[in-house]
Amino acid sequence: MVKDQIIEIAKEAGEIMLSAKRPKIMEKAGHANFCTETDEKIQAFLIGKLKDILPEAEFLGEEDGQDVFSSKMSSGYCFVIDPIDGTSNFIYEYRPSVVSIGLLKDGKPYMAVVYNPYDEMMFSAVSGQGAYLNGERIMSSEAPLKDSLTVFGTAPYYIELQEKTFDIAKKLLPLCVDLRRSGTAAWDMCCVAMGRCSLYFELKIQLWDYAAAALIAQEAGCMVTDTEGAPLSYRGPSSVLCRARGVKEIPVCFLS
Ligand code: IPD
Ligand code: CA
Repeated sequence: MVKDQIIEIAKEAGEIMLSAKRPKIMEKAGHANFCTETDEKIQAFLIGKLKDILPEAEFLGEEDGQDVFSSKMSSGYCFVIDPIDGTSNFIYEYRPSVVSIGLLKDGKPYMAVVYNPYDEMMFSAVSGQGAYLNGERIMSSEAPLKDSLTVFGTAPYYIELQEKTFDIAKKLLPLCVDLRRSGTAAWDMCCVAMGRCSLYFELKIQLWDYAAAALIAQEAGCMVTDTEGAPLSYRGPSSVLCRARGVKEIPVCFLS
């Protein structure tokens, strides 16, 4: 089955991540926006291997310098890849970082694999068939927000979003148990999917950050939308609000 093949490929990619020694670091546009030679190495590895299992698929990867979802990606299969989500964590050895592989079919999320090699946690989902962690079905928490942790993200290079992000975070803090910021959006959504926390938000992430994890969260019973409650586009960057089953309403701080 294709999902099992992708899982094996993600495991091998995780081994490349774990075995990297002092990789060369490159700066991308904006403040603290990094890529390493390991990001590039894993992406090349993933594309090579994934092509073998689905030769007709298109590819959109974070490190190929192309951030445009083209019309040819909206029909047939398209792999959307983040070789290392949590590149700063990776550079500073501040865990976790994950391999994220989403597969779109006709522009819609179809299959997803997210792997945290540090804890050997393999998340996977197929649209309509549930979400799994290391082969066991997972469902998001039914606890209300007041009894749950919240996670959020904000990239240091989107300076214009910082004030609004921290304003929302400040308003959320008294509504939940506490706030966390992991440094990887895909991991954050997987944490909501498996019930470790009940809400994740970020005002702008790229398609490769959410293509896989949003499907995993949705298949775990989460409501995954943009921060205004609209469905995700799966065409490009978006805000994301991921709510576990127990968070029935969008908190008012997102709507004001
Ligand atoms: C980043 C991480 C981070 C999020 C940023 C992303 P990268 O991805 O997911 O948590 O706040 O928006 O760009 O650069 O580590 O792949
Ligand atoms: Ca990345």
